[in-house]
Amino acid sequence: MNDTDYQTLLEQAMEAARRAPERGRAADYIPALAQANPTAFGMAIATVDGAVFGAGDWEHPFSIQSVSKLFTLALALADGGDELWRGVGREPSGNPFNSLVQLETENGIPRNPFINAGALVVTDRLLKLTGDAVGAVREFLRAESGNPAVAVDDSVASSEARHGHRNAAMAHFMASYGNLRNPVDSVLAHYYAHCAIEASCRDLALAGLFLARHGTRADGSRLLSRSEAKRINAVLLTCGTYDAAGEFAYRVGLPGKSGVGGGVLAVLPGRGTVCVWSPGLDAAGNSVLGVAALDALTTATGWSVF
Ligand code: DON
Repeated sequence: MNDTDYQTLLEQAMEAARRAPERGRAADYIPALAQANPTAFGMAIATVDGAVFGAGDWEHPFSIQSVSKLFTLALALADGGDELWRGVGREPSGNPFNSLVQLETENGIPRNPFINAGALVVTDRLLKLTGDAVGAVREFLRAESGNPAVAVDDSVASSEARHGHRNAAMAHFMASYGNLRNPVDSVLAHYYAHCAIEASCRDLALAGLFLARHGTRADGSRLLSRSEAKRINAVLLTCGTYDAAGEFAYRVGLPGKSGVGGGVLAVLPGRGTVCVWSPGLDAAGNSVLGVAALDALTTATGWSVF
């Protein structure tokens, strides 16, 4: 496929998504996110050889929020290996991303690494392994995207910290079961900060390519084994969009991770990545236009893991 074809595919997918009857609403439980421009819309494709194509607001940075959980998981597994799975499961939760209900019956072991409770455990382990979980994620994103401007928006992190009662409750609850290795306040601070990283569709599409390259980074070094990369893609497919993961697999047919900033990063193993951003969310916390654009793109191209 040539450059014009990728560009045309993106523009057509975005045009199809704009016909969706609903737009959703930007997240407002983190007050700083409610200020997002509701009409922002961008999309980028990166191919395994590192080429990147985009349309709309594809170079505009946004709050990556839970898309960061894909990177914390990869880095924690790369540094610490399978030990991670003693503290967090890998089954779909069938519950919202911020739900507490399963934690007590499951003895403080969250269902998967992408619901907030599971992501807090992953951040905790990455903090123990590196001494600086948010720094590890930020440097990885900068290196893979080639963009040194990728950075934490401190105002978003502190906005979430002031309103993050549920996350704090989950972290303390898990600490009571001995499932955190660091003080709760440190885990929460690193978690809020990596969620508050600002990056664009371009940056995230490039940064996610290691999963399309079966574990290999942009510089050719290996982050994960082929098998570990396959496993992360599997958990993305089954858990990456929370209790809408079934619908996402049905419509898009690719592993993907969403965030309440409106970003969605999807992986085409062996071929590339697609990242889309539009702040309006559905009830599950996934970007309405983002999922619609991925649906249109994969339906038009046949790109799917199925
Ligand atoms: O912890 C939170 O609620 C946010 N920092 C991240 C949640 C999120 O992005 C869920 N994704 N769709």
